[in-house]
Amino acid sequence: AGRSGLFRARLTAEAATARFVEGQDTPILTYNGTSPGPLIAAYEGDRVEITFANRIEGEQSTVHWHGMPVPADQDGNPMDPVAAGADRVYAFELPGGSAGSYWYHPHPHGRTSEQVYRGLAGAFVVKAKADPIPAAYGDTALMFTDLRLAADGSMPDNTMTDLMNGRVGDHVLVNGQKNPKLAVALGAKRRLRLYNATNARFLRLAFANAAMTVIGSDGGLLEAPVAIDEILLSPAERVELVVAFDKPGAATLTTLDYDRGWMGPGRPSDAGLTLLTVDVANTPAEAMPPVPERLRPIAPLGQPAVSRRLVFTETMAMNPTGMEMGFLINGKAFDMARVDIVARAGETELWEIVNQADMDHPFHLHGTQFQVIEHERDGKVSKPPYLAWKDTVNVARGETVRLVTRQERPGARMYHCHILEHEQLGMMGIVDVQ
Ligand code: C2O
Ligand code: CU
Ligand code: CU
Repeated sequence: AGRSGLFRARLTAEAATARFVEGQDTPILTYNGTSPGPLIAAYEGDRVEITFANRIEGEQSTVHWHGMPVPADQDGNPMDPVAAGADRVYAFELPGGSAGSYWYHPHPHGRTSEQVYRGLAGAFVVKAKADPIPAAYGDTALMFTDLRLAADGSMPDNTMTDLMNGRVGDHVLVNGQKNPKLAVALGAKRRLRLYNATNARFLRLAFANAAMTVIGSDGGLLEAPVAIDEILLSPAERVELVVAFDKPGAATLTTLDYDRGWMGPGRPSDAGLTLLTVDVANTPAEAMPPVPERLRPIAPLGQPAVSRRLVFTETMAMNPTGMEMGFLINGKAFDMARVDIVARAGETELWEIVNQADMDHPFHLHGTQFQVIEHERDGKVSKPPYLAWKDTVNVARGETVRLVTRQERPGARMYHCHILEHEQLGMMGIVDVQ
């Protein structure tokens, strides 16, 4: 990639096999032969042209640019499928100010959950032309996925429990590996971009023997760094951190327990997993520059002209053919032929996401970044600790989240729960921007 120019790449989705267990081949899906797919890094100001080749046998697919400000007809929506065996070019510009930690994944109607858990996802980092974060920190994307293997090494289909709660795998992988190792000098600082690319696993994360500072959210840098002890990443959320390694020995990224509301038996125990191990040497690094005190200004989106209310509910009913589940927004399941909301380009809107269900639902909106204003639960209102650009926010059970958003480009945009099994079962709608 140049510093402003044309960024061209080719992404081929195709079947392959992977060795997660000695002596067993697991059929997976890959972009360009790897899972996660290749890290795409381009600069603000670039024009991007990516040729997508769908070589998945018998299945349509798309490439969706999660969180990126791309035109609606280039965004890999379910309405624009790429047939098995076909190619298409996705083309868009990366505007100034769009630097951030995005990702790409398929979004075909009725098949997103399966194509993602079989291996299709990759990181797309848009780099700033003038980046305030010292280059000495490096820049590493860590994509979390999770994997479930049957006894024969294959990936089993979704069960009833998976459809209800979302599919949670048995092994959390980081860039496709279990508990990979990094090595740093004593006193080193590292810029890490954490991606929750799992279908449905909530990751409450802490670093032992290292200090975390948040510098960015889904849509790029915060205004100022914020020191934290832990972070909750719901499915599809990202965070950009600077991690300081000031103690020799092993620093580990581990999971803490988080109760996201689980229906039925088999709640996975999430606590105490080690996801990443960093070996901190005894020999000191060359002195690292401090994290800058100001990162960039974020202008508040301002007074909304319109307000919307989206109520998330679940329905479970026993009927003669078995359990019937519905995951609904405003009482309706997704219909590709229906427009749920009509919005105007350039107009600020207040969206109130009301979760009346028994479990958390991470809310995601395509095409733009939003600002969370407040959370309300049991009549108690709380503000987020800092202003941030987000495209995904967890709406905990019983909670209402208010956010402001503005779509700049016309066209149909999806909004949905990013537990991909819920999205597939109907918890999705279309906003038509005019
Ligand atoms: Cu990450 Cu509608 O998608
Ligand atoms: Cu998206
Ligand atoms: Cu959900």
